[in-house]
Amino acid sequence: VTSADAEKRAAAEAAAELVPDGARVGLGTGSTVAFLLPALARRGLELRCVATSPATERAASELGLEVEPFSSLDALDIAIDGADQVDARGWLVKGGGGAHTREKIVAAAAARFVVIVGQDKVVSELRPPVPLELLSFGLPATLRALGDDARVRLREGAPSSPDGGVIADLVECDLAEPGTLATWLATLPGVVDHGLFAPEMVSEVLVARGDHVERRTVGRSGPGAAP
Ligand code: 5RP
Repeated sequence: VTSADAEKRAAAEAAAELVPDGARVGLGTGSTVAFLLPALARRGLELRCVATSPATERAASELGLEVEPFSSLDALDIAIDGADQVDARGWLVKGGGGAHTREKIVAAAAARFVVIVGQDKVVSELRPPVPLELLSFGLPATLRALGDDARVRLREGAPSSPDGGVIADLVECDLAEPGTLATWLATLPGVVDHGLFAPEMVSEVLVARGDHVERRTVGRSGPGAAP
């Protein structure tokens, strides 16, 4: 077990303790969440879970967690997920596993979104790549709108997302003000979603440093109201 794995486990196990009996739970994707699933299953709670990827759905079901399609629930009590980068304000880059579109839908539906990371994911400033999910229809036009060839790299050999999207990375971009980039990406019609998660979406970040888990409260208390 590497020290990075030990930290993933520590953060994941701390998050598993935050889940109340009877909760509707969103399960993220990735190697940190892989430590969450057994910790949650061991608690033996009555839970209704939704998964952000087929891999998580399989792993959770094998552990005896009840996973439902996200067509049978319209809100979640808590969602727990990893991240590729977390900055001091609580901005996240996610989507290293290409699951960011579903992860963002699940996080946004949850009253509480808890991010679990080892200290290696904490950065002073976000940096590229920013994962993207693109619609395959009109892909060349979307790539053109995103900028020249050097800015976007299609993830070679990566399967499509479970929703048929093409996974790519924005490899050159200015992240000094992540909100500016997030807003611009949201204006491009062929971009299904991107891996920037705003602090308003995040309730707290559990950062493991060795076996100590530091809990940072961020900007979110529940899903936003419609305008
Ligand atoms: C998947 C994600 C993951 O949460 C992110 O890539 C972190 O993964 P890991 O826990 O394996 O380091 O966003 O799309």
